[in-house]
Amino acid sequence: MVHLVAVFSFTTLFALAMGTPLIKRDMATIQSDITNISSLLVTWDNDVNAFSGTADGASAIHADSVALESAFQQATTDTQATSNFTTDMDALLVLGQMENSSTLLVGGLTQIAEKGANFTSINGTAAIISDLSSLGAAATGFIAAIGDIITDQEVVAQATQFETTWSAAFGDAISDLQTGL
Ligand SMILES: *[C@@H]1O[C@H](CO)[C@@H](O)[C@H](O)[C@H]1NC(C)=O
Ligand SMILES: *[C@@H]1O[C@H](CO)[C@@H](O)[C@H](O)[C@H]1NC(C)=O
Ligand SMILES: *[C@@H]1O[C@H](CO)[C@@H](O)[C@H](O)[C@H]1NC(C)=O
Ligand SMILES: *[C@@H]1O[C@H](CO)[C@@H](O)[C@H](O)[C@H]1NC(C)=O
Ligand SMILES: *[C@@H]1O[C@H](CO)[C@@H](O)[C@H](O)[C@H]1NC(C)=O
Repeated sequence: MVHLVAVFSFTTLFALAMGTPLIKRDMATIQSDITNISSLLVTWDNDVNAFSGTADGASAIHADSVALESAFQQATTDTQATSNFTTDMDALLVLGQMENSSTLLVGGLTQIAEKGANFTSINGTAAIISDLSSLGAAATGFIAAIGDIITDQEVVAQATQFETTWSAAFGDAISDLQTGL
């Protein structure tokens, strides 16, 4: 009995210390996270397109990348605190919303790979590769978390497809940049 009480207080303190005492998230939170991700992706994509081999340009892309990574991590945390989608429609709605992000993400990564020589010209190749590695981990981590709360296996397969596409796009961009080193 004494033990049980002790464990309970520890858990309570732990939850308070973490600042997020067991708050449940929902579909609306995930959708708002994706809206945030989309808008950060637009900024990132614009900066990638504008990049012409200047240190300022590279540092803008870096700042965007850090913000995006944190938004993906927030979305992952919220998704992990959400119960499984109650209907396939909810899951498909969220995946549809991610379709937009996917287009921007893959397009931006292609641009970065094409601008490999511009990154090399300012000794920025290692830095952009490092950013892409952590951004890729955060982005695929989020889509994996989404897959985990989808119950229908056919719909899970669609989430897995995004994960595969994103993972390949990050991998291709990184290997193209490495070739230019
Ligand atoms: C950026 O790359 C393009 C195409 O490779 C090149 O024409 C341009 O001169 C480069 N700019 C700088 C600043 O290196
Ligand atoms: C978007 O995500 C960033 C990074 O996690 C966060 O700082 C910002 O508050 C978010 N904005 C909205 C509107 O949720
Ligand atoms: C995708 O983006 C377009 C505009 O960029 C917007 O009209 C559309 O509603 C978006 N779709 C989703 C599912 O968010
Ligand atoms: C190039 O950048 C790397 C870090 O990415 C740094 O360690 C190195 O000193 C830089 N080299 C020059 C010549 O600035
Ligand atoms: C949630 O969905 C996953 C499949 O992605 C399934 O393994 C798990 O059992 C489901 N959880 C509940 C509580 O239904």
